[in-house]
Amino acid sequence: MLLVSQIADFQMIFTLLSTLPVLIITSELDYSELVNSAELVSSSSSLSPSHLDNKSFKPRKLNCTRDTDIIDRLLNGTGYNKFRIPQEEGMTVVVEIWIQAITSIDELTNDFDMDIYITETWLDPALNFQHMSPCKGNLSLNHQVLDRLWTPNSCFINSKVAQIHNSPFRSVFLMLFPNGTVMVNYRVRVKGPCSLDLSNFPLDLQKCSLIYESFNYNRQEVEMKWSDAEYPVFNLSKIVLPDFDLFEIQTERKQENYPAGMWDELHVTIIFERRFIWYFMQAYLPTYLTIFISWVSFALGSRAIPARTMLGVNSLLAIVFQFGNIMRNLPRVSYIKGIGKVLNLDQHQEAQ
Ligand SMILES: *[C@@H]1O[C@H](CO)[C@@H](O)[C@H](O)[C@H]1NC(C)=O
Ligand SMILES: *[C@@H]1O[C@H](CO)[C@@H](O)[C@H](O)[C@H]1NC(C)=O
Ligand SMILES: *[C@@H]1O[C@H](CO)[C@@H](O)[C@H](O)[C@H]1NC(C)=O
Ligand SMILES: *[C@@H]1O[C@H](CO)[C@@H](O)[C@H](O)[C@H]1NC(C)=O
Repeated sequence: MLLVSQIADFQMIFTLLSTLPVLIITSELDYSELVNSAELVSSSSSLSPSHLDNKSFKPRKLNCTRDTDIIDRLLNGTGYNKFRIPQEEGMTVVVEIWIQAITSIDELTNDFDMDIYITETWLDPALNFQHMSPCKGNLSLNHQVLDRLWTPNSCFINSKVAQIHNSPFRSVFLMLFPNGTVMVNYRVRVKGPCSLDLSNFPLDLQKCSLIYESFNYNRQEVEMKWSDAEYPVFNLSKIVLPDFDLFEIQTERKQENYPAGMWDELHVTIIFERRFIWYFMQAYLPTYLTIFISWVSFALGSRAIPARTMLGVNSLLAIVFQFGNIMRNLPRVSYIKGIGKVLNLDQHQEAQ
């Protein structure tokens, strides 16, 4: 017993001894910090503000070039021309789209609304600033600088409306990398067309599509590409719509022949799946119930003619009323929809 307690004591002393230097060092550090800050306080209280500015707002790296100077040195008096294509052999513009929200799909006007971020990346060798010893690894700039740079002038060629968000200021983000890579990000609201085919309604899939391409430059001058990421178009958050679920997003790159040459087109197809539960509850279920109730007349026997007539007519009226009620909520098309087929069938049964 004695031996064990002695060993424990020894261990305790040993650990104390081993932590002692650390304690001493930290206390020394604390002390020196204290002295330093005390010195700072005393010196700052006695010195003029300009001296204080010099001391506390000193740039971390001594001889580095600041953002504004880099932009001036790149664009002022260097003969940079935003109307000239930066690389004679042709530019490659890489595109990525993030879907922020899809706000509506309208069956009357055949279109859909969404808010997206478009990211375009290209290499402009004239904007290389590696040799200027920049203070930052990459420059974050705004649309005013972008207005002075070459851009591929790309747009959605099949959109009904597209605009860059403007409040409280133009939502354009520009990042310049030291090797001259330009990355531009726009936040855009776009209204695009849908090809609504309702023949399988309400178990239908709806396709909406957008085509993005450079408006001014053909394939020899600007080559448009989807980014190498697994999904070049993806939703940032879950897309929730009252009537639809997002089914799939497809991307494709096509070459299109125009009178002025070949153009690269980036196609996005967004496929929506209708939520049919509402239609099931509102249309199918009540209709089936009415039919089942009309069968009660068979159980009444062939001599109960007034009761059977009343049941039959009542069911017919209920169906007609139900049909009108549903039709008010459905898109108008000139062909027979899936839901209409079922209802017509029901009415035939009733008439028999
Ligand atoms: C900073 O620049 C000055 C002259 O412009 C030069 O003499 C000095 O060596 C440079 N210092 C460093 C760390 O590059
Ligand atoms: C550079 O050019 C822009 C626009 O042309 C001008 O606003 C700016 O003052 C110029 N900067 C310098 C340092 O000359
Ligand atoms: C931009 O530079 C900063 C600092 O150098 C770095 O932390 C950041 O990851 C860079 N951004 C990109 C997109 O490379
Ligand atoms: C330029 O730099 C960026 C960021 O560091 C990098 O992603 C890109 O691949 C570089 N481009 C070239 C052509 O070196």
